[in-house]
Amino acid sequence: MNINIAAVDYDGLIPNNVGLGDDPRVKRALEKWHPGYIDWWKDMGPEGFQESLVYLRTAVSVDPKGWAKFDYVRMPEYRWGVLLAPAHEGRKIPFGRHKGEDAWQEVPGEYRAMLRRLIVIQGDTEPASVEQQRHLGKTAPSLYDLRNLFQVNVEEGRHLWAMVYLLQKYFGTDGREEAEALLQRRSGHPDTPRMLGAFNEKTPDWLSFFMFTYFTDRDGKMQLEALAQSGFDPLSRTCRFMLTEEAHHMFVGETGVTRVIQRTCEAMKEAGISDPNNIEAVRKLGVIDLPTIQKKANMHFSLTLDLFGNEISTNAANAFHSGLKGRYREDRLKDDHQLESGTYPVLRLIGGKIQNEDVPALSALNMRLRDDYVVDANVGVSRWNKVIADRGIPFQVKLPHVAFHRHIGEFVDINTDVDGNLLSDAEWTKRRNEFLPSDGDRVFIESLMQPQFEPAKFASWIAPPKVGIDNKPGEFEYVKIA
Ligand SMILES: [Fe+2]
Ligand SMILES: [Fe+2]
Repeated sequence: MNINIAAVDYDGLIPNNVGLGDDPRVKRALEKWHPGYIDWWKDMGPEGFQESLVYLRTAVSVDPKGWAKFDYVRMPEYRWGVLLAPAHEGRKIPFGRHKGEDAWQEVPGEYRAMLRRLIVIQGDTEPASVEQQRHLGKTAPSLYDLRNLFQVNVEEGRHLWAMVYLLQKYFGTDGREEAEALLQRRSGHPDTPRMLGAFNEKTPDWLSFFMFTYFTDRDGKMQLEALAQSGFDPLSRTCRFMLTEEAHHMFVGETGVTRVIQRTCEAMKEAGISDPNNIEAVRKLGVIDLPTIQKKANMHFSLTLDLFGNEISTNAANAFHSGLKGRYREDRLKDDHQLESGTYPVLRLIGGKIQNEDVPALSALNMRLRDDYVVDANVGVSRWNKVIADRGIPFQVKLPHVAFHRHIGEFVDINTDVDGNLLSDAEWTKRRNEFLPSDGDRVFIESLMQPQFEPAKFASWIAPPKVGIDNKPGEFEYVKIA
């Protein structure tokens, strides 16, 4: 690989294992798209740190033992690559009506529009989260956390590249237009918002960032897992490699929340406070009380559930039936992989009550993915609870009921408490602040968001990590702020 990035050699500029050097049409398309991407990054990427040297990993191959290399880099000079996981020789379409046929290496004409839509929706989430997180740098609780934020950001940028490569390579003129449009939409913009609700919400503080990377990047993982099963082989291979990076994003979220909880519990113990609901006393210690952490979790979990779409969905049925989007770890499931008969239980609102109904399995695929998500999300929550229990504090973080605070699907028109008990509008208005962060909570959290840019130091409200990135020692300067 040519690593001379001074000369504009796009094969060298873009680490890739897709033979870009021998594919002049796609290479030219990406060369044309690249300046717009850099403009977008400078405009909407991390604010105030574009000149800083950041200790980042860059994906340079797909070798499981050494796919990334770590070095200091200015973010606009990051080498966003196009990397596909290795092909599986003779791979077959693993599910749906084409099950057992050879996997597609070119776009199947009859499914072109549906496939493009799936790629565009996935692609749209990637730059969206960079936009949502762009103001966080200036309040980072440590250089370690600042570096992790930027790592997540540049990798979401790379995920955009991954989807844009598919659009440019396989979808001709309309692919090119979609690639342009991905740079035009803006998170939270009144006229040209990002495509999905949760990606238009604000990420106002670092606890939100950790919750977002824990809950919302985990939706990303589920979607990528489902697309990694795709009969369209280039999409499958792209998503398989993206999952490698995604794991770090969820690590940042899970350990971030863990460290916040740990610090809170330790400060409470030192101060001799045993009641987690003594919020005022806990806040005086300069840490975030556990009930507020719970409210943040309620918020981000419920917003993320909306990303799974409607409980009953013809689109999801079609995407599966056509062989484009599978289930979570389809290849490990033991059934006919076609689902033309059979049912799946779905929580619905029936006669004013929340109850299970068996519906045709094909139309319940969003639900199935969401159920798998909830199981996955609970694993880390129990690790958080262990941190609390180990310090003897009587408190458990609990994910709210799936009907709580929903903006898409069966439960949009009702209000419930976090246990799924129905509430009238009046009760909801009265009790909302019990369940979700109030203005007061937001103001308090904001007051803690003071930057800590000295190596080895951490803000008052968060514990240091157990180990450094790339095994670096505690005093390592992860970001050289310019
Ligand atoms: Fe991503
Ligand atoms: Fe991610």
